[in-house]
Amino acid sequence: MNGRALYVDPALYSRVFPPDAGEAAFFTALLKAVPPGAAVLDAGCGTASLAAMLPLQVVGLDRCRELLRAAPAPVQTVEADLTALPFRKGTLGGAFSRLFGYGYALGEVPGWAAAIAEELGRVLRPGAPVALEVPLAHRPSRLQGIEERAVLPGGLAYRFRYLDVLEETAFGTVLATRIEVRDPAGEEWHLAAPLHVYTPEGARAWLAHAGITEVRFHAPYDLASGTAEPPEDCLRAVAVGVHQRKSVRIMLPAQRAIT
Ligand SMILES: C[S@@+](CC[C@H](N)C(=O)[O-])C[C@H]1O[C@@H](n2cnc3c(N)ncnc32)[C@H](O)[C@@H]1O
Repeated sequence: MNGRALYVDPALYSRVFPPDAGEAAFFTALLKAVPPGAAVLDAGCGTASLAAMLPLQVVGLDRCRELLRAAPAPVQTVEADLTALPFRKGTLGGAFSRLFGYGYALGEVPGWAAAIAEELGRVLRPGAPVALEVPLAHRPSRLQGIEERAVLPGGLAYRFRYLDVLEETAFGTVLATRIEVRDPAGEEWHLAAPLHVYTPEGARAWLAHAGITEVRFHAPYDLASGTAEPPEDCLRAVAVGVHQRKSVRIMLPAQRAIT
């Protein structure tokens, strides 16, 4: 078993997370209010292959140098951490990310979710549209023990498991998770990491912390599904909103570790 290779090896990553034209059209439509020429952040862009399909001035940001090296030439990329964005206040015309909350940035370290919201709120212009995919569940702790399996193109067997509940936060629940991928030749990779699953009200509070309001949720990547209240069984959702002039800072209660 290879450990972190899944989020480091661009060839493997592209097989597990291939972008498609439907996703590109979805984000393009949600970002149509971006003023011409304004920079749009792809927050945790991976190999930036989705960013390359958007007719926008995208800046792909990721902390993984190996994935960024595989980015298509026209996409501008920057190696940085979402907790310390290398942009000036109010300079970005929009932000998006496919599989954003699944990048683990929001659950890896206690307090990171709030720090990332504050950074996004700082760098976005007033009126900037935002479309970020987050894991969403009305009762996240009930996911414990659930697993998802799929066979991906090329015969890759994919298995995702929700394990122990690690902590309750102001926005939802952090669970231990594990991804396993096996190719037809029997080679296997895995990634074990904490995942921050949001409640709908938690996602709203997190976005409000970034100054993002007028929030609605879409089941990915379906423009027709936009709703203020996601259905009970909506696990993956793209949260869509607009950055306001003023951030709505919420008082964050201390995180509660589950023992
Ligand atoms: C599930 S991948 C999704 C990538 C891309 N949005 C896509 O659709 O292919 C999540 C990405 O977030 C990046 N990431 C996770 N935590 C990060 C952090 N704190 N700062 C910057 N990038 C981060 C990972 O390196 C990974 O490339």
